[in-house]
Amino acid sequence: MNDKYEYIKNIDFTRFKTGLRTVLCGELRNDSVGTDIKVCGWVNRRRDHGKLIFIDLRDFSGIIQVVTDSNINEAVYNIAKDIRTEYIVAVEGKVSARTPETINRDLPTGEIEIKADKISVLSQSKTPPFMLDSRDRVDEMARLKYRYIDLRTAEMQSNIRLRHEVTTLTRNYLNENGFIEVETPILAKSTPEGARDFLVPSRLNPGNFYALPQSPQLFKQILMFSGFDRIYQIARCFRDEDLRADRQPEFTQIDLEMSFVGMDDVISLIEGLLQKLFKKALDLNLNTPFQRLSWKKSMEKFGSDKPDLRFGLEIHDITEIFSRSQFNIFINVINKGHCIKCLKIEDAGDFTRKDMDNFVDMAKKYGAGGLIWIKVENNNQFNSPVAKFLLPDEKEKLKDIFSLKENDLLLIVADDFYKACYSLGAIRSYLGKKLNLIDEEGFIFAWVVDFPLFEWDEQEKHFSPVHHPFTSPSADTLEFLEKDTLKVNSLAYDIVLNGAEIGGGSIRINDIEVQRRIFKILGFDDKRIEENFGFFLRSLEHGAPPHGGIALGMDRLIMLMAGLESIREVIAFPKTQSAYCMMTESPSPVTELQLQEVFIKLSGIKNIHDKKVKS
Ligand code: AMO
Repeated sequence: MNDKYEYIKNIDFTRFKTGLRTVLCGELRNDSVGTDIKVCGWVNRRRDHGKLIFIDLRDFSGIIQVVTDSNINEAVYNIAKDIRTEYIVAVEGKVSARTPETINRDLPTGEIEIKADKISVLSQSKTPPFMLDSRDRVDEMARLKYRYIDLRTAEMQSNIRLRHEVTTLTRNYLNENGFIEVETPILAKSTPEGARDFLVPSRLNPGNFYALPQSPQLFKQILMFSGFDRIYQIARCFRDEDLRADRQPEFTQIDLEMSFVGMDDVISLIEGLLQKLFKKALDLNLNTPFQRLSWKKSMEKFGSDKPDLRFGLEIHDITEIFSRSQFNIFINVINKGHCIKCLKIEDAGDFTRKDMDNFVDMAKKYGAGGLIWIKVENNNQFNSPVAKFLLPDEKEKLKDIFSLKENDLLLIVADDFYKACYSLGAIRSYLGKKLNLIDEEGFIFAWVVDFPLFEWDEQEKHFSPVHHPFTSPSADTLEFLEKDTLKVNSLAYDIVLNGAEIGGGSIRINDIEVQRRIFKILGFDDKRIEENFGFFLRSLEHGAPPHGGIALGMDRLIMLMAGLESIREVIAFPKTQSAYCMMTESPSPVTELQLQEVFIKLSGIKNIHDKKVKS
């Protein structure tokens, strides 16, 4: 039996008895035959068979069949005649066994039905914009607009209940481990953390703005300075950034901070939490410790700092083979100290010339100057636009190293380390899906560690933190902070699941001088440091224990646990890709008076409602 309502398996039905009902729709089985019951729910479907009307009555726990017979009770039959899909009704009646030929094996309640003695309509409904059973075929925009209907589906009930289970288990686990839950302000201060802030104008402080927190980062650190030792928050975070399937403008983190810890302490705490969540919510055993990969290895082998380790297809370095190359592109790259990276795809006979062009475009899209492909054809001949530039011994070495055979394909990018790895990493991810290399049922976790502390922002021409400015440099690379900045590593750690970053954290800076140096390297002058972080530096001045923490992206984690591809599926009221709420039609214009009260004057703005809303 395929039970869509499996998610309520551990429910205590007796808790749901009220004046209006004695049982839930999904509760009854054979052993209740003969009892009188009262049940309430939504009309999932009504089937009119002439003298008989059947109603599939639904609540969160499941579906039960109700039947009325005009020969037995005409008044009830007449009420049932006028009932429509999604009406909410109360039914009183007797539980009876179905005849063997009418048993429905697809329903847990399929062996019984309720013979109705009384039906009352508690609420009528307009014809729903879509049928719950057809959810898969309904455009997501319609599901978001009529979210109250979508949330009635077994899928959404299951997702939101899984979310509840994850938050409850998390709270229990952290409480057991000595954490306390502390709320921090939502009307917070704009402190650059990487993304754009959502700003809130202050009526009482004209011309001044709060920022909604991108995360409770500084507050949770300050709580460590205040001696709370271990705190957590199921924290709502707000970031005004470009959205994707795994990004929302407001999202939730399992956010925690601990005093007197090193990286291993935080990592093993989180491994314990994930073990518990997967065991209790999905009945899956996770083996710990999870593997750890340095950022460099992760980039080198998988072209990503969030590698999908459910499949191989690793990237290889072939710079050495071309050290005496006659091919201009390779010579230039090698002279600049860059590298040549390669992906080997076996049995790629089906890939066409168009696919090759597509690989070239993908590489360019992900930052590389181009891509070179080599296809091995009859008699191990190289078919490639650059075949004529390759020396015979280079070809031999390639054949040797990769054990090349007919129909194998090499995709090569020659560029700086980051661009070469990153672009081949993107192609690797694409091929993982296209070639069905991924075990969709598997959960493969890894920690990525030894990140660089900074990256160079080529557009803005300054250093940016790879994580955030409060991440501690590693003691052994601290000496390079000013003289060879990109050489400095951080004490940050990201946790990755199936190619998605589900969390990130670090050991923090607790030395005010190091914190000041970091701000300077990021290009902040004294005025900006004071304006944005003065309060934080002053708090550091009064003593800060060694501390560290992490935040797990709760929406992403639950999405992956539920085997879904969009975090919108695990958020009750999400926004579209243009940060728009289809149901409440927000954001929306406000009155002139409201604007005046916060001293804001609009100019040259098109009404958002003129804009086509994208999913
Ligand atoms: P970070 O910015 O890495 O770290 O965020 C932690 C995790 O939150 C998730 N996440 C998101 N989920 C949905 N929508 C978004 N827009 C979004 N942005 C991030 C990701 C990510 O790994 N203060 C630090 C944590 C720390 O250092 O303790 C922070 O916020 O899964």
